[in-house]
Amino acid sequence: MQPFTDPAAVAGYAEATPRKVPGFADLHRMTMLLLAEHASEAANILVVGAGGGLELKALAEAQQGWRFVGVDPSLEMLNLGRRVLGPLQQRVELHHGYIDTAPPGPYDGATCLLTLHFLGRDERLCALREIRRRLKPGAPLVVAHHSCPEGGKLRRWLSMSIAFAGESRVDFAAASVSASAMASRLPILSVSEDEATLREAGFSEVALFYAGFTFRGWVAAA
Ligand SMILES: C[S@@+](CC[C@H](N)C(=O)[O-])C[C@H]1O[C@@H](n2cnc3c(N)ncnc32)[C@H](O)[C@@H]1O
Repeated sequence: MQPFTDPAAVAGYAEATPRKVPGFADLHRMTMLLLAEHASEAANILVVGAGGGLELKALAEAQQGWRFVGVDPSLEMLNLGRRVLGPLQQRVELHHGYIDTAPPGPYDGATCLLTLHFLGRDERLCALREIRRRLKPGAPLVVAHHSCPEGGKLRRWLSMSIAFAGESRVDFAAASVSASAMASRLPILSVSEDEATLREAGFSEVALFYAGFTFRGWVAAA
């Protein structure tokens, strides 16, 4: 949670994040399509870790009949989300807190983007169960976050993700130092652990749709 209460980190979030995540705009478009496959034109979508408002903005612009409930424990990130959304806020209800503070729905779909790697396995499992409880049967959940590719070597792959976000000169030595710090700070699971956690939370049809260095995205059915 720390970076999401630091005013400097939050101020730079909307500008920095698209540079850090390979295919960021495409990830949002793929997320929209995976939700739209099942959701009607007047769908109600739950967005967990909604602070910053970036996926809310992309989804609200792409689907003008959708309404959204967003939940996030960081007030600073929620305030940034309000600024990013501007007039689109009319279709968005933002809640300060964790998933348990989200209204029960039921929702036609849910997202949790760039968030689950901050949650240890047990907390993640609880959060995923709470999301599933709020979804209509069969409704899609789209998640994307850091996950360690099969074969291990988390630091190597995190170095690649960090170097990807670098400004110009490739500096693998610096990226490797940051990767070590990141690997010890974040409870990143392996791809198979991530998929098992989704299934354990009650989701089925778990399917990988996105991969870029350590980033992975899955869609699953409630
Ligand atoms: C990297 S940001 C991602 C924000 C947004 N989903 C995006 O893709 O730009 C991670 C967000 O997750 C929020 N967060 C941290 N722990 C959380 C939790 N247990 N439940 C929901 N959100 C959480 C943080 O406050 C932060 O706003």
